[in-house]
Amino acid sequence: MSGSVSKNGCAEKNGGATTVYLGHVVDPVDEDQYRDIPAGALIVSGDGRIMAVGKWSDLSERYSSSSKIVDCGRKLIMPGMIDMHIHLPQVTQIGKSGDTLLSWLEKYIFPAESKFSDLSHAEKIAAWFFDELASNGTTLAVVFTTVHKEATDAAFRIAADKGMRAIMGKVMMDRNAPPTLLEDSQNSIRDSEGLASKWHGYDDGRLLYAFTPRFAITATDELLRECGKLWQSSPGTYLHTHLSESREEVDKVASLFPQSRSYLDVYDRSGLCGARSVFAHSIHLDDEDLQVMHGKKCALAHCPSSNFFLKSGVFPIDRVKAAGVEFGLGSDVAAGPQMSIFGVMKDANFIQPKIWISPRELFYRATLGGAKALRLEERLGSLEVGKEADFIVIDPTLKNACPKDILDHGTDEILSTIVFLGDDRMIDATYIRGRQVFGRGKGSNAGSELHKVRGGK
Ligand code: GUN
Ligand code: ZN
Repeated sequence: MSGSVSKNGCAEKNGGATTVYLGHVVDPVDEDQYRDIPAGALIVSGDGRIMAVGKWSDLSERYSSSSKIVDCGRKLIMPGMIDMHIHLPQVTQIGKSGDTLLSWLEKYIFPAESKFSDLSHAEKIAAWFFDELASNGTTLAVVFTTVHKEATDAAFRIAADKGMRAIMGKVMMDRNAPPTLLEDSQNSIRDSEGLASKWHGYDDGRLLYAFTPRFAITATDELLRECGKLWQSSPGTYLHTHLSESREEVDKVASLFPQSRSYLDVYDRSGLCGARSVFAHSIHLDDEDLQVMHGKKCALAHCPSSNFFLKSGVFPIDRVKAAGVEFGLGSDVAAGPQMSIFGVMKDANFIQPKIWISPRELFYRATLGGAKALRLEERLGSLEVGKEADFIVIDPTLKNACPKDILDHGTDEILSTIVFLGDDRMIDATYIRGRQVFGRGKGSNAGSELHKVRGGK
């Protein structure tokens, strides 16, 4: 094998050359199927596109002499995780429980978000947040920041510099929030418009903008309608909000918007339902809501760990699927007490009292299913030729609880183990558009030796 060889799975961006990643490629196709390529190869161009994927024995003749080779042994190479709903400022509040949604917001979340008026605090937390995403194997996150324009601008700048991928936006709130977080409606619109025109589409779409009214309770009719107009006149941008998470919230929305048929209808009347609108939670919905969401091509972010934590209810997965509404998974940190989408996959199965969701489906929801819901499946979500090379290298044996011979088992068993035991400890390396944003072996050979021993090759 010629070409330069790095065995630690952690090569830096490859200065324009093609890189070959050798490993066990597992790639989602749909809810029931995945491509399974042991002794596989992922070939990535210098500009971070997938040039080929397949068995190394079929590709080696073409690529071995001209490419840099990163040998990951029998570790798994999978598309990166997509987190469809997460709050950047809330990483400081993970694990603080004891209340249902509305009092939890008042007690922990609004005070934590108020601190983002301090730009140096905002920068520090944003840097931490994006590093955590990378080390958890999340290669695309749909992110709430806070109401603060400067803090949000800093979050975009830090994501840009770190090579991270995000759909992100400034939170909009013009009522029912503490004075430290309340905005004038017109300023909220103007600041959001300014941030969108600065950041939406940055680096060929690595960063995208989402208009982000927090939820109906903290928005006036005027804010929602102006936001709807702005979103609809900003092609390719997203609309990201919360919907029907807790019963208490649903009742309050009904009293604030008595003219609306349902919670979803509040958003629909304001022009906030359509392709690229992302509704987090969406638990307490009736069939008409689901029909509207399907007809208007809205996306849902299912956040099971958060729903467990705040005791919000059970996502009606069977009705959502029957209605044909597209959905993926969200961590909803900090109501969700973990960033790992592996933990979220596990909880998506555990929270259903009667329905069993297979590891294959959970893997799909966390990757290609999320990309589809976000209308990004042409570019992201799986390891197909022509897509951007967002992928992770997973070594299940890095986690102590994992059976040490797991890589000798069939791929369905490996997948199941990753789904039910997985967390950041299994992530060996994370790449976004071919650039490494996290790696255990970075700067040391200790990692490569460990892989040799445990990976068996
Ligand atoms: N609804 C409105 N704001 C929030 C939030 O910050 N977290 C969650 N889980 N739900 C919300
Ligand atoms: Zn949320």
